[in-house]
Amino acid sequence: MSAWTRKDLLGIQELSAEEITTILDAAAAFKQVGAREIKKVPSLRGKTLVNFFVEPSTRTRTSFELAAFRLSADVVNISATTSSLTKGETLKDTAKNLEALHADIIVLRHSSAGAAKFLAERLDASIINAGDGAHEHPTQALLDTFTIREKKGRIAGLHVAIIGDILFSRVARSNIHALLKLGARVTLVGPSTLVPRVFEQMGVQVTHRIDEILADVDVVNLLRIQHERQRKEYFPSLGEYTSLFGLTKERAARLKPDALIMHPGPINRGVEIDSEIADSARSVILDQVTNGLAVRMAVLYLCAGAQPAHV
Ligand code: CP
Repeated sequence: MSAWTRKDLLGIQELSAEEITTILDAAAAFKQVGAREIKKVPSLRGKTLVNFFVEPSTRTRTSFELAAFRLSADVVNISATTSSLTKGETLKDTAKNLEALHADIIVLRHSSAGAAKFLAERLDASIINAGDGAHEHPTQALLDTFTIREKKGRIAGLHVAIIGDILFSRVARSNIHALLKLGARVTLVGPSTLVPRVFEQMGVQVTHRIDEILADVDVVNLLRIQHERQRKEYFPSLGEYTSLFGLTKERAARLKPDALIMHPGPINRGVEIDSEIADSARSVILDQVTNGLAVRMAVLYLCAGAQPAHV
């Protein structure tokens, strides 16, 4: 494995394919650690991690906390409502105060694109981007590519469809960067208002007809509609969205038998995905969540300064 020299993980866009593979390989080693009777390793003993989530989260926040516990770090969780952000303190001042309390790693989820980069440029602590607005969600893309590699044995040459609200999705952007760097072919699917053709400049294909691609893809990754980021209506109704773009039972039956069905969560059952399909044998949605723990252990371990070969 090659060396990792970054103190921060801000996005997938700036990573090389080699760096992405370094994280995925370290995650594979940590997944094996998770299968042992004693799941804890001392790698981050004496380090303090602050989970600073200014937006809601179930999967990301919990798995970063568990990952830090498994690495023997001390963990503190703070949220927007319990922090002094509510009293007008700036993000920079809050983070500087956390650093003054000897935070070594800050995991930040924020509604503003660039918030993690802003802190990384001003603090000595490692900053891990846990989602910044509609910009990037790098650990989600890493756990998604880890899951595809684990299930399919490779990424290169696979055809991955990302279906749904691409315009407002940090998950889509991070996945596009990761999949293209690792040699996959990517098709974006959704209404033209949420999947404009300008995305083709990233090196992906765009279609507004889901039925055109179902028989050809190896992976479908379904995204929910990000109502919280939309300032206007982008399609007439949820019912119409489901009829045109939802993974219904009929559409799932037209996928290749070994196609993977993925979703980063949270799922809106019956909207972007049929409820029974979400729970079916081809769905790897909960495997993605499980793999998020190993991937986040790898990210914390590497950004804290450990070398990949010592996992
Ligand atoms: N996929 C994801 O980021 O989920 P949470 O918002 O629950 O962290």
